[in-house]
Amino acid sequence: MNHFSAEYAALCDAQDELTLFRNEFLFPELDGREAIYFCGNSLGLQPRNTRSYIQQELDDWHKYAVEGHIEARLPWVSYHEQFAPLLAPLVGAKPLEVVAMNALTVNLHLLMVSFYKPTKERFRIICEKKAFPSDQYALESQVKLHGLDPAETIREIEPRNGSAEILHEDILAAIAEEGSRLALVMIGGVNYYSGQVFDMASITRAAHEVGAIAGFDLAHAIGNIEMKLHDWNVDFAAWCSYKYLNSGPGSVAGAFVHEKHCTNPETFRLTGWWGHNKERRFLMEPEFSPILTAEGWQMSNAPVLSMAAHRAALELYAKAGMPSLRKKSAKLTGYADALLRELLEKPSHKYLFSIITPQNRGCQLSLLFHREGRAVFDYLLQNGIIGDWREPNVIRIAPVPLYNSFTDVYKLAFALSEFPA
Ligand SMILES: Cc1ncc(COP(=O)(O)O)c(C=O)c1O
Repeated sequence: MNHFSAEYAALCDAQDELTLFRNEFLFPELDGREAIYFCGNSLGLQPRNTRSYIQQELDDWHKYAVEGHIEARLPWVSYHEQFAPLLAPLVGAKPLEVVAMNALTVNLHLLMVSFYKPTKERFRIICEKKAFPSDQYALESQVKLHGLDPAETIREIEPRNGSAEILHEDILAAIAEEGSRLALVMIGGVNYYSGQVFDMASITRAAHEVGAIAGFDLAHAIGNIEMKLHDWNVDFAAWCSYKYLNSGPGSVAGAFVHEKHCTNPETFRLTGWWGHNKERRFLMEPEFSPILTAEGWQMSNAPVLSMAAHRAALELYAKAGMPSLRKKSAKLTGYADALLRELLEKPSHKYLFSIITPQNRGCQLSLLFHREGRAVFDYLLQNGIIGDWREPNVIRIAPVPLYNSFTDVYKLAFALSEFPA
């Protein structure tokens, strides 16, 4: 059967064990019709259960007011604790190494306060070129906080010769070259622009070999690719929950601190009462005594309403399981890749765009348009397809295994094939 056909896509959907998860989500509409949504790498869709999970907390707030901290069906004082066992398998951590808290950039700052401790000899930072701007701003301000000059401190690893891919060997070579001057490697696990997956295990190993710390921004990695942060010996990581984790706009983020650091009372952390020994928290004693897990990085009590949305979303991940999601994702994005490459062989489409995402990828494909990028984006929208526009000329497409189908991918490729080239 020709794989560039609605029949072939329907057959793949019929064989897809995760197909029913699509019904667990609410899709936006365009012109009164359910949209085809490829923007889960920016903002994931709302799970059907989110509303009732938030409603439960609103009801308990109404019923119990302050007593809800203890009396709510899921008591708020310990509400955040339910997330460690749900998040740990998503990043390959021990539950004690993960915590749901704050927002992503905030967590990166808190972790850099603990793990970027420059000295006169060891102060350099390696990051990727075209890191997400918030990471660049955060790195620069951390450097300035220590009275250093960002230009002399931060080394960005660039792709070669106009490609979007940063070569792994270039990262390793830079780490070796910096050697004893290197304090920190901080890279996105998956680059937001190109969709490239970095080899976090060997980057961490290389950083440790020269005595540096390795930390990762997992905004585009969590819920997308499988990770083993504990086994890889990663020092710290942080992520947001509104992309692949479908927990709602600006919802609560998360952090990983390796066991070797979080169980060490000497690891410096900025402190607040929610990181204090739980048994003694309400004794209101003056002296801080950290919880010796990632929870020790918490400062404030938990934002229960956004965490209720997080709960609804993470339960779906627990049901589906990362290995099955990853398996489907490879097939689904592979299908998108194959259809788009077939299109690029047509004379009408040959010079329209190129796929800049390398083969080491998760579910995102980034299409670099050589002309008419914005017109294509608008055309897709008119045809009920929501992608993600990045200035000046990239459309990012993320076929998300939890709720996208092979038919969605086929419809995208078909619409593109009809684009008046
Ligand atoms: C890779 C990456 N880092 C950082 C951020 C900033 O996240 P936040 O606004 O949650 O701090 C984003 C947001 O999309 C991102 O994609």
